Amino acid sequence: MAQFVNIRHFFIRRKKSRPPAGLGKNPENSDNFGDKIRGKQIFPHFLGFYSIILQTPDFIGEKWRNPIKIRAALKDNGFVFVAKQSPSDVAALLDSLGEVIYTTDVRVKSASKVLVTSSCALDFHTDHHLPKWILWHCIEQTDDGGETILVDAAKIYRNLDGAHKSALSEIMLFEHKMFGGDRGYYPLVAEKDGVLRFYYFFWTARENLPEAQKSALSAFRSALVAEPPVKIKLGKGDVIIVDNHRILHGRCEIKGTRNRFLKRFWVQCHQQKGETT
Ligand SMILES: [Fe+2]
Repeated sequence: MAQFVNIRHFFIRRKKSRPPAGLGKNPENSDNFGDKIRGKQIFPHFLGFYSIILQTPDFIGEKWRNPIKIRAALKDNGFVFVAKQSPSDVAALLDSLGEVIYTTDVRVKSASKVLVTSSCALDFHTDHHLPKWILWHCIEQTDDGGETILVDAAKIYRNLDGAHKSALSEIMLFEHKMFGGDRGYYPLVAEKDGVLRFYYFFWTARENLPEAQKSALSAFRSALVAEPPVKIKLGKGDVIIVDNHRILHGRCEIKGTRNRFLKRFWVQCHQQKGETT
């Protein structure tokens, strides 16, 4: 049974306050990933029966450009939804967040073997480890499916037992090198100065993980499946910004007219300048 959350209430409340072969340059650009999705049916939670749906119409028309409020919401929730933004609004938002390091047109291409431009559902993941923020700006939306789904990895991790937390930090996940300094492998979770940082491409984990790590990964995934995701259907002009080091994102299958078109921006925050990747 779906649960419904009034988005205005949601935001006002928070205003207070070795790798598999075949991966592409961008890990989402991966036939291997798609094979795993289709072959192993790893998305039981994509049935969406227990999804939280944020009812965007309640928020339409409201302008919320204050960067301080947006940063506060990002800190509290790990993501923020901003309705009806023009390209110039988005440019200002991006400028307030940091430096755009990569831009992608996320749209369905017929017979695409590249996941991000296919119509397939995408399981929860982070993008490349480097961008702190991901901003999606909806240019067009399909009339069926294509909802964005989000889940807070930090919340799930904190509820695990100590042994599982420790083992998760030892799991190294593969990443294709896109930027100078990329190392190619990153820990699933790391902690620095009390701040957790996730890199979650679980399908790139070695199949022969030590038992403790395998158990920890299984516990994490089970908790992930059990957690009701936030599910948002973006309308034209709508924006979602997520903390890519905390919030896992995915999407539902794109059906219907399939004219969904999102501009995706990877943003490195100002504090990351000089940070080695
Ligand atoms: Fe992604």
